[in-house]
Amino acid sequence: MERELTLEFARVTEAAALASAPWMGKGNQKAADQAAVDAMRAVFDTVHIDGEVVIGEGEKDEAPMLYIGEKIGTRKGGARVDIAVDPLEGTRLVARGLPNALAVIAAAEKNCLLRAPDTYMNKIAVGARAGGAIDIRKSPRENLENIAGAMGMRVRDLTVIILDRPRHEELIREIREVGSRIRLISDGDVAGGIAAAMDDTGVDVLMGIGGAPEGVLTAAALKCLGGEIQGILQPRNDEEIERARAMGFTDINKVLRMEDLVDGEDIMFSVTGVTDGDMLEGVRFSGDRATTETIVMRSKTGTIRTIKAHHLVGKKPDYFQKDVLKNF
Ligand code: FBP
Repeated sequence: MERELTLEFARVTEAAALASAPWMGKGNQKAADQAAVDAMRAVFDTVHIDGEVVIGEGEKDEAPMLYIGEKIGTRKGGARVDIAVDPLEGTRLVARGLPNALAVIAAAEKNCLLRAPDTYMNKIAVGARAGGAIDIRKSPRENLENIAGAMGMRVRDLTVIILDRPRHEELIREIREVGSRIRLISDGDVAGGIAAAMDDTGVDVLMGIGGAPEGVLTAAALKCLGGEIQGILQPRNDEEIERARAMGFTDINKVLRMEDLVDGEDIMFSVTGVTDGDMLEGVRFSGDRATTETIVMRSKTGTIRTIKAHHLVGKKPDYFQKDVLKNF
């Protein structure tokens, strides 16, 4: 992938964020999500890649756009890439005006992103300092002790980020027993996983069960940042087990490591803030202007850029007016 693509991918997540941000606090998560999907799809049409969506909005019959298998990009001689998208990660966060809603994409060379079924995944993620110290098959206590050892910290000083769900009652109880601190979040475990890998976020570990597609996106980000995630699929019923098998998962309980989730050395990841959050400012509007904040990263070089963009709505091209700014 040419390095210039990083800026193109930043444009894609900026558009999704710009389109969904007007829905902040309006209680309509579907509309917020749809706006992000429409915008992302429209801008992808202008990007010089021969792309295929491998993690998207669902199967072809259930998603009109950005469905798994959909071809995207100008496709005329562009790089052949696989794309994982989450146009709006944290639909409820936007609907309720809560922090850390993001527009996210990851790109990699063909067949380098795991085609994850739309089930849950049990995950543990850490930053570079604790890379190699985690094992998802071990107890929370063992993992936290090993992470603390690797990071030169006391177990009680570690902060674990967890989705606030009844399914995590036992996990939370165990972590409290060990003595680490906990930050519960209502949604958005991609942001949680990235926070664990970035400096100065006050978060050291992500633990618990969230979406499997979100696990692959988190792995792509951590590949660029130098952290580590492990996951195990957690299908909820026989139908989900069947779906996973049909996608090639012969051993449902297999520990999915970094190299299973994201292979190869050339990964690009772009994330734009929709609502204000720990790592990114959300979209701000003022008259016919808007600002966005994006982090775009590339694993090949390890470069991490933060891009603050000032958008002048009147000067955007026609497709942008039609598909991205229709609620502006
Ligand atoms: P959406 O943006 O698709 O609503 O996902 C938000 C999210 O919180 C993810 O970050 C997380 O992986 C998943 O939902 C958890 O699923 P559930 O809400 O079913 O526990």
